[in-house]
Amino acid sequence: MRHLLDTRTLGRADAIRILDVAEDMADTQEREVKKLPTLRGRTVVNLFFEDSTRTRISFEAAAKRLSADVINFSAKGSSVSKGESLQDTAQTLQAMGADAVVIRHGASGAPRTLATSGWISAGVVNAGDGTHEHPTQALLDAFTMRKRRYGAASRGRDLAGYRVAIVGDILHSRVARSNVWLLATLGAEVTLVAPPTLLPQDVSQWPVTVRYDLDEAIAARPDALMMLRIQLERMNAAYFPSEREYSRRWGLDPERFATLPEDTIVMHPGPMNRGLEISAAAADSPRATVLEQVRAGVSVRMAVLYLLLAGERESEGTK
Ligand code: CP
Repeated sequence: MRHLLDTRTLGRADAIRILDVAEDMADTQEREVKKLPTLRGRTVVNLFFEDSTRTRISFEAAAKRLSADVINFSAKGSSVSKGESLQDTAQTLQAMGADAVVIRHGASGAPRTLATSGWISAGVVNAGDGTHEHPTQALLDAFTMRKRRYGAASRGRDLAGYRVAIVGDILHSRVARSNVWLLATLGAEVTLVAPPTLLPQDVSQWPVTVRYDLDEAIAARPDALMMLRIQLERMNAAYFPSEREYSRRWGLDPERFATLPEDTIVMHPGPMNRGLEISAAAADSPRATVLEQVRAGVSVRMAVLYLLLAGERESEGTK
């Protein structure tokens, strides 16, 4: 694998390969093997132009557990504030010896530009770009779903017939987009549930069913209910229902949570707006996989860095 830029073009075999290698990585962590020597002497740069807690820290943990050196770059406090371009920033970091660049950027397409421009030779991993994609989030979500469905027998399996309802601010969500493409590739059935104003215009071309009523979506007994963060920072009052209205109709409040089928899991990519899209009763329940998803994030990112930097010969046919 040369780069990981999206899930839209990630094939089924490559997706399952990443999930299976992540299983191996999770096994090493369960056996309390603190570090693997695999990426000794390699350097991973975390290039973050937008805020992050989970993604940045788990990429750092993943690289360190594989014995790579890590350079963390945050646009805040850097020469980006003096007008330095993405090209000059990336080339400066490459000059310091980057073998892989993990990039989060507010502009959709920035990771692809970095990967295809010829500015740098390092492998590029998209850690979230604008409203476009967040591929490692979708992979860790799929890892969590597969684990819940197949347990120790997960390796080699896809998610055929698994039913996922993704709820909320689809319009601004790169997590929703990456999940839609990956889940479709893995054979899952995806339903999007949102106010009409928080759905993208081209949703009719996506491989999904659309519903506007969360109670109806719950009555259809999904295997997983994925609550999305309302992205208040990207919101325009013209298309957002009031927070009160949103919470009442599309939030997983305690009353609605009580109507969930017993075996439906509750997912959230984080960070959560407690009391808006999800209640504490739901987020802190044993059926919530929020922290399981965070743990899976380290294993999946270890797998991606491994396949990018050490697994070339083993993953022929990937991008
Ligand atoms: N889920 C996710 O991307 O979280 P962060 O913004 O904290 O990285």
